[in-house]
Amino acid sequence: CTATATLNTGSKIPLLGLGTWRSTKDKGYAAVRKALDAGYRHIDSAAVCMNEQVIGKAIRDSGIPRNEVFVTAKLWSTQHRQPGKALEQSLDRLGLDYVDLYIMHWPLAFKTDRLSSKNYMVIPTNAEKKPDVDTDWNHVKTWELMQYLPKRGGTKAIGVSNCSIRHLKEILDSQGNKIVPAINQIEAHPFLPQDDMLDFCHDKGIIMEAYSPLGSDGAPFLKEPVVREIAKRYHVDTAQLLISWGLQRGYVVLPKSTNLERIVSNSQTFELAKEDFIRLHELAQERGTKRVHSPPWFFFE
Ligand code: A2P
Repeated sequence: CTATATLNTGSKIPLLGLGTWRSTKDKGYAAVRKALDAGYRHIDSAAVCMNEQVIGKAIRDSGIPRNEVFVTAKLWSTQHRQPGKALEQSLDRLGLDYVDLYIMHWPLAFKTDRLSSKNYMVIPTNAEKKPDVDTDWNHVKTWELMQYLPKRGGTKAIGVSNCSIRHLKEILDSQGNKIVPAINQIEAHPFLPQDDMLDFCHDKGIIMEAYSPLGSDGAPFLKEPVVREIAKRYHVDTAQLLISWGLQRGYVVLPKSTNLERIVSNSQTFELAKEDFIRLHELAQERGTKRVHSPPWFFFE
């Protein structure tokens, strides 16, 4: 799939991207190399996944000109007060001069005073063993600091992840904010179609990105009878069907795999007939919504 969308910065973003959570060490490196060989031109990364070194090395070793690959990095919640420093550290680990997109991973900041090591890529806990949320800070303040990053040069665009419509409204309505997020990356698939979010994003010129399009660990949605039945008729595998469905809805889809064959097959997408497109969209209504990852703010509000 070579389709792209246009960000509110004017830059293009490939609609298909490789998800890289749990893609560490040799497997992570091989996955990114394979994806780039297979034609992927969009690699999603996150500092908290602790694999930026292998991802960056794979991008550099691929020989593909840097400006032909769209690279995303993410700000972890222990560094919300210093997004500029966090971005520099990510660039350093990736071995890249810039990323195309820098995303606030969670709209939630953690305190760092109890962190003993130099490793900030954790969920710090407080004396009650609960996540140590920094209640003196919030995502709006983080965004107000992030808005200066594109001008400074380490990233071409900025966005958010795991934001609800309320979080997005708070950012957009803030007095100190001058930039609309280019992206909101959230969980989306036929069991969580995110219709309201998609409408809101369209309205505001924000591109939605879907993580866990297959249902995350073990890809549970691939076993759904309706998914299997439709895929069989098209002579495609079930992952190709779910990825194609997401792409056809016009947002970015980020399937994760470290299996070299699946990385290639996941990029072979196709167009669904209208009735099948709609049929998949009805699954959540028929069978109930299924959320694989609870957004972090569910726990703290
Ligand atoms: P693996 O990395 O071994 O391929 P999601 O993108 O929804 O987070 O799903 C990722 C999960 O789905 C991973 O467990 C991944 O395992 C698996 N997966 C990715 N592509 C496929 C595929 N084409 N068929 C079956 N499982 C897949």
